[in-house]
Amino acid sequence: MSEPILDITQSPHKKAKPDPEHLSFGKVFTDHMLTMEFSRDKGWHSPQIVPYEPVSLDPAAMILHYGQTVFEGLKAYRGADNQILLFRPKKNFERLNRSSDRMSIPPVNEELMLEYLKQLISLEKDWVPAAEGTSLYIRPFIIATEPNLAVAPSYSYTLMIILSPVGSYYPEGIHPVSINVESEYTRAVRGGTGTAKTAGNYSAAYKAQERATEKGHAQVLWLDGVEKKYIEEVGSMNVFFKIKGEVITPELSGSILEGITRTSIIEMLKDWKIPVSERKITMEEIHQAYEEGTLEEAFGTGTAAVISPIGELHWEDKAMVINHRQTGELSRSLYDTLTSIQTGKLEDPYGWTI
Ligand code: COI
Repeated sequence: MSEPILDITQSPHKKAKPDPEHLSFGKVFTDHMLTMEFSRDKGWHSPQIVPYEPVSLDPAAMILHYGQTVFEGLKAYRGADNQILLFRPKKNFERLNRSSDRMSIPPVNEELMLEYLKQLISLEKDWVPAAEGTSLYIRPFIIATEPNLAVAPSYSYTLMIILSPVGSYYPEGIHPVSINVESEYTRAVRGGTGTAKTAGNYSAAYKAQERATEKGHAQVLWLDGVEKKYIEEVGSMNVFFKIKGEVITPELSGSILEGITRTSIIEMLKDWKIPVSERKITMEEIHQAYEEGTLEEAFGTGTAAVISPIGELHWEDKAMVINHRQTGELSRSLYDTLTSIQTGKLEDPYGWTI
């Protein structure tokens, strides 16, 4: 079977590039985007690179009513000798398909998507920033486009990939932040959509985030939705704790997103011979470790922020200050090593960058 050809229409207008020293997150987009359509009779077809522009949707398009959608996030980095590096991109297309499966969206051909992405990045290579801490954020996503108010999976979909030159996701960067442990709202439950990268998981978190912001905290720590006992995620990131030399992250229980940074951190810790375990962990256990003086570090991990250290945890009426609000030694080495691999400063010992 011959593979579909990627059609490219160059934009006649090239936008001015933003100042690389003052990049925020996800506000500026490049000159082109990739689009691809799905229909019942043709499957995924018509992949093309076109000028970046607004999309036109029927007001009855199913995405607008029932939120049938999935997305991904990954980054391209500019290395020292100007080579452009992608970090574990196959994992993102594998996860896109897992999310799609959960949301009843038809799968894409992962290898082909990676080839298309490489072509898009190659066309937009001048948009990959070089300054320290910057990258080109890549956002693939799929939306249900069939005009139909029936509560059922759509017959048609559009996949798009847009690109945004970015700086740090959180203004604090690698500086520790204060976290509010959320005891009322829930991010996800086992059997729900928490393991999928789908829009509703993120907007459902806004209410708790607003409450945390009002109290002066940067993020929310999510507990399980049933017993409000076990730790799940922090903000939109996975979470790690270092207690008495051991690193612990909640096991993938069926409501936690399998982060690619999470997987990479676990693999690095194993390689460094630092004890690491994926298991259930409660707030009680964290508090006890804090009281005993054995809670050494805590940090969130994600593509956007890479590592975000936790300086304070506020749980009910208890306040815990971790590592004197300083970036811990382990958080710092993980951040430095991972970002050095991602940007090609350090030879990639794991074969993660392509
Ligand atoms: C991440 O990459 O950490 C996220 O999931 C945040 C993203 C949705 C902006």
